[in-house]
Amino acid sequence: MTLDTVRIRKDFPIFERTVRDGKKLIYLDSGATSQKPHAVIDAEMDFYRLHNAAVHRGAHQLAEEATDAYEGAREKVATFIGAHFNEIVFTKSATESLNLLAYSIGSAEFGSRFALKSGDEIVVTEMEHHANLIPWQQLCKRTGAVLKWFSVDAEGRLDLSEIESVISAKTRIVALTHQSNVLGTINPLVEIVERAHAVGAFVVLDACQSIPHMAIDVADLGVDFLAFSAHKAVGPTGVGVLWGRAELLNDLPPFLYGGSMIESVTMTDATWAPAPRKFEAGVPNMAQAVGLGAAVTYLNSVGLDLIHEHELILTGYLINGLKQIPDIKIFGPMTNIMRGGTVSFACEGIHPHDLGQYLDSQGIAVRTGHHCAWPLNRKLGVAATTRASVYLYNDLSDLDALLEGVLGAQKYFARFS
Ligand code: ALA
Repeated sequence: MTLDTVRIRKDFPIFERTVRDGKKLIYLDSGATSQKPHAVIDAEMDFYRLHNAAVHRGAHQLAEEATDAYEGAREKVATFIGAHFNEIVFTKSATESLNLLAYSIGSAEFGSRFALKSGDEIVVTEMEHHANLIPWQQLCKRTGAVLKWFSVDAEGRLDLSEIESVISAKTRIVALTHQSNVLGTINPLVEIVERAHAVGAFVVLDACQSIPHMAIDVADLGVDFLAFSAHKAVGPTGVGVLWGRAELLNDLPPFLYGGSMIESVTMTDATWAPAPRKFEAGVPNMAQAVGLGAAVTYLNSVGLDLIHEHELILTGYLINGLKQIPDIKIFGPMTNIMRGGTVSFACEGIHPHDLGQYLDSQGIAVRTGHHCAWPLNRKLGVAATTRASVYLYNDLSDLDALLEGVLGAQKYFARFS
């Protein structure tokens, strides 16, 4: 293996506990949320224990320390994705980042480069999770824009055969996931970004499932906006990021109004601070942002390239193992090429919830259900799937346990058929 997972697991206190009557915890649900290392838990705790004060407000030492810690986290996150620190907006989640963007675009004044009119088009894909679908649906409803999408082919990849008609002169926004949270598919951005920019559309990337697992540089990706959450990247819950090119963020209207996001206020009107503060009304999730700063420092110390390489090995191993088991259907690419470590599958004759419960009885945590991507499940022709998702603390023995667990479930449920 490329990573010393024994050492890495020691960084994550949750692996000190057992589950279901003393069984080793086999955590294969990092696609839903990752576990947290000591460094992140300590950073959040230390913020409250030592530095807690409202950022950007008080004149006292604690306020200064809190502000330095919060803005320091912004610097770390910016460096982590190759951005300028003024381009990092802290939100409460990736979902909020995407809603913020859609709402702000929808509020853009007539004449603004963002203003949408009836007949304009917004393009998504069939593999979006709800957070990168519903905000755009609602924006279409508010503005009269039309929603279009790329469909998913039998291999679980985007069908780009009609890219020129899907992304047309009417397209204003293309919003897509970098890596599917169900299929694991990593999408081919170059072609999509090139076509979108050729017709003058903005590209919004949902990087929730990619940022935790691979090195990302926003300049290389060429997209215009990007959203992700901390909690899938060993960081705390309650903080997400919206990145946008500075000139674009500065042109967008605010989403939430209140303290800290203003330049000046009278009884009848107000003007806005420059981005990112324009988008951070109220006292923000300070400790969580500081925890995110610690998370990216931790991921950098392990190395994103090593994490990615490690997960490629795990993914290939899991797919090959599942292929050996009869009556298993994998949804998504059947190799680890342009694919992340999120593997969804069905087991003929066993409902995913039953399978999930059986695996849980063996100490194995997976996610079952529609994975907040209902339209994709419809396309796949299933109500639900079982999903295993790997991260830096998993090793081959975790996958052996899963494969044995699936075989055990087949044996167990065969008694009832
Ligand atoms: N992002 C959530 C998951 O994939 C929906 O579990």
